[in-house]
Amino acid sequence: MPAKVDMDKIVSLCKRRGLIFPSSEIYGGLASCWDYGPMGVELKRNVRDAWWKSIVHERDDVVGLDTSIMMHPGVWAASGHIDSFTDPLVECKSCHLRWRADAIEGKGCPKCGGELTEPRMFNLMFKTSMGPVEEEASTIYLRPETAQGIFVNFDNVITTSRKKLPLGIAQIGKSFRNEITTGNFIFRTREFEHMELEYFVKPGTDEEWLDYWVKERFDWYVKLGVRKENLRLRQHGKDELAHYARDCYDIEYLFPMGWSELEGIANRGDFDLIQHAKCSGKELSYYDNEAGEKYVPYVIEPSAGVDRSVLAFLIDAYDEEEIEGEKRTVLHLHRSLAPIKVAVLPLSRNEKLTPLAKEVFNKLCPNFVTDYDDSQSIGRRYRRQDEIGTPFCVTIDFESLEDKQVTIRERDSLAQIRVPVEELDKILAAKLRGEAFDASPLWATREK
Ligand code: GAP
Repeated sequence: MPAKVDMDKIVSLCKRRGLIFPSSEIYGGLASCWDYGPMGVELKRNVRDAWWKSIVHERDDVVGLDTSIMMHPGVWAASGHIDSFTDPLVECKSCHLRWRADAIEGKGCPKCGGELTEPRMFNLMFKTSMGPVEEEASTIYLRPETAQGIFVNFDNVITTSRKKLPLGIAQIGKSFRNEITTGNFIFRTREFEHMELEYFVKPGTDEEWLDYWVKERFDWYVKLGVRKENLRLRQHGKDELAHYARDCYDIEYLFPMGWSELEGIANRGDFDLIQHAKCSGKELSYYDNEAGEKYVPYVIEPSAGVDRSVLAFLIDAYDEEEIEGEKRTVLHLHRSLAPIKVAVLPLSRNEKLTPLAKEVFNKLCPNFVTDYDDSQSIGRRYRRQDEIGTPFCVTIDFESLEDKQVTIRERDSLAQIRVPVEELDKILAAKLRGEAFDASPLWATREK
């Protein structure tokens, strides 16, 4: 059963509210490329930060890394990407459109029904050349995964981090794949951002660690508000495992087009370290002081996409509700992901309200990502904040000038509470930390 929202609604909300725009739009756009607008850039950043916090900062067995997109071409020969990072491609003999052979049903071209060529293997890596002379020696590739930057730095990290195994190395960064079939908005694009962890373990303990990371990663999405019933796990069949994988699980999400991969968690064994040691001539192993033995570690790899996670969070948060006869569209985003945490909204643009409203804004913005909006009716401004998922709006009215109190309006319950301006910081900080909802009777009032 597909998710309740169709993709067009998400695409339209993203455009309308400054989350995601088609790339190069004034030139007619560029297939499968998207730009993150002012709200989208905050959301994407929050997704990255949430991942980094849970994978690196909240643990003592993982360190971070940031490696270059362009790497020595030998890396891709060793990793198997030059030979094996391919998809079978067929071409229509009439309209010349190209398709992934494994993604089409029936025998003819899905567009015009024309006859298709025999499949041929197509490498998904983008090639470019480095240096001013275009010769074979300067051909390089844009990385299709960030993982290889981690493997080739394994020894650098081990010798400088003073850490023991099991040890993880994490990286977030852009990857590029010349995908044959793109589409479904930001689900599959040719340029995207990876969040990858390579977790190095002692051989023999790898299966346990694979189970551990599958659970950790599944729970991460749930903790950030994705409904469990929209997530499931799927083990890869032997015939679909990547060339480097011994075992692999996908965390799948119920996207509008059906269940599809959100993240993959693979057991890469010692494939990569062995290959790089062989091809570079540098030993890549680990001396285990406690066991008194040397071995090549196995690697467990949770590999997620920032953009695909953003899409799943948006879809899961999207809701259309009826409030007292009026429709409202709202993103019930987890507070840590919401692009704006607090919106300061003076009841009107009346010049008497502006000084206090500005004072409140200036007080809040060093601590929270805060928006200030005094145009249009208060109702419309609430709707705008609901559509971008702002958890709290603070309204300043004429009474505020007398009693120095303002109203906090909560996005999901629509409850309203009046609080003193001096307490505002503290109350919002507690609410944004997710501390128990204050059961004060004041919160029982609903928006009129
Ligand atoms: N290093 C392993 C690896 O890259 P993958 O299953 O090819 O594994 C991992 O990719 C994740 O990266 C996917 O689950 C998805 O979230 C994201 N991803 C992969 N290709 C993508 C694309 N073309 N567009 C957007 N996200 C993509």
